[in-house]
Amino acid sequence: VYNIDDYGDMIADRQRTGAFARALEAAVRPGDVVLDIGTGTGIFPLFACRFGASRVHAIESAPHIQVARETAAANGVQERVIFHEGSSRRIELPERVDVIVSDLRGQLPMFRQSLLAIIDARRRFLAPGGRIIAERDDLWMAPVEAPNLAKAFRQPWCENPWGFDLSAGLPLAANTVARGPVGAQQLLAAPMLYAAVDYVRAETAELQARAQMRIERDGEADGLATWFDAVLFEDIVLSNAPGAPLSYGQAFLRWPKAVKVTAGDIVEVDVRADLVGTDYVWSWQSTVRRAQGTVVESFRQSTFLGEPMTPSMMQAISSRHVPDLGEDGDVDRLVLEHMRGRNSLGQIAAVLAARYPHRFAGEAEALRHVAELSLRYRRMPGESR
Ligand SMILES: C[S@@+](CC[C@H](N)C(=O)[O-])C[C@H]1O[C@@H](n2cnc3c(N)ncnc32)[C@H](O)[C@@H]1O
Repeated sequence: VYNIDDYGDMIADRQRTGAFARALEAAVRPGDVVLDIGTGTGIFPLFACRFGASRVHAIESAPHIQVARETAAANGVQERVIFHEGSSRRIELPERVDVIVSDLRGQLPMFRQSLLAIIDARRRFLAPGGRIIAERDDLWMAPVEAPNLAKAFRQPWCENPWGFDLSAGLPLAANTVARGPVGAQQLLAAPMLYAAVDYVRAETAELQARAQMRIERDGEADGLATWFDAVLFEDIVLSNAPGAPLSYGQAFLRWPKAVKVTAGDIVEVDVRADLVGTDYVWSWQSTVRRAQGTVVESFRQSTFLGEPMTPSMMQAISSRHVPDLGEDGDVDRLVLEHMRGRNSLGQIAAVLAARYPHRFAGEAEALRHVAELSLRYRRMPGESR
């Protein structure tokens, strides 16, 4: 998901990396065993070793773990950092750890399965009395005037220079969560602290909260900005507030249209994030009222409505649907059935090319497909059976 430039940007973000370094310095005691979930290109293990860790378990599911291995060797800590390739949720460690560190956030901590990963690692790997970085994320929200962000998603569907009605795309665009940046001057109300993720105690990866904000100046509200302030360890904090130069950006919960607001108006938002499969469905219901109570505007939005679905897709996921594999499925089933520890990829490719000559020009082309499936479904080195 991340490419090398993304990892480079994270490292180059001095505020972020510097705050994690200070947190590790404060949390790691000489001789500690540290776990880094999602080590990426392996910067946190270097700090952990510098601050006295005797051993670091560094877990990473992306192939960039190879860069992390080389980096550990280049810095002379290859004996102290033990790399585990794969998802932390499938890996067993030989010991409990004194410190867990991770930065798995997107714009918000509800990002892919990161909360599940942290909760799982804390339960299975953290020693009694162990420390966790981050300790907490506070979630903030404010209505914002963001014509820059709003224009970018509305304009193609609402005003195009070619004289066509392209409005069919607007509902999808309006139900999408975008990434900031949002500037501090774009806020229309004082930010509201609407939720917190307590990594020391959290047992659920879901979010359900309500925010109520009072508009402080007249303007046009385009939606809601939401962001985190992290307590990494004790008094070491990291703020991703609008205007902060951090690389995460803020999440922008769009409104389908701009709403004229005046000082004293109230914006009420019910927000939830439900983990569905590997990612979150965000839902936000917003109501704008005048100070005396009249409802000016009300929107009910969800990223569920931001994903296009054709009728045949709807049918394919219905619980009553009795599925029948298409040829793509038959091909993959044949390949997977041969991956039982007895056949080489070349042998499987030969079977595939012979069975489906109309799909594969020869064994070399079949091998590319077989190799792709092998990469996707291989047992990771640290994965238990
Ligand atoms: C935001 S990057 C941070 C990388 C690194 N810690 C840094 O600060 O430069 C998050 C990394 O965590 C990895 N990751 C996320 N969840 C994971 C999990 N459960 N197990 C292993 N790796 C995971 C991703 O592949 C990604 O490389």
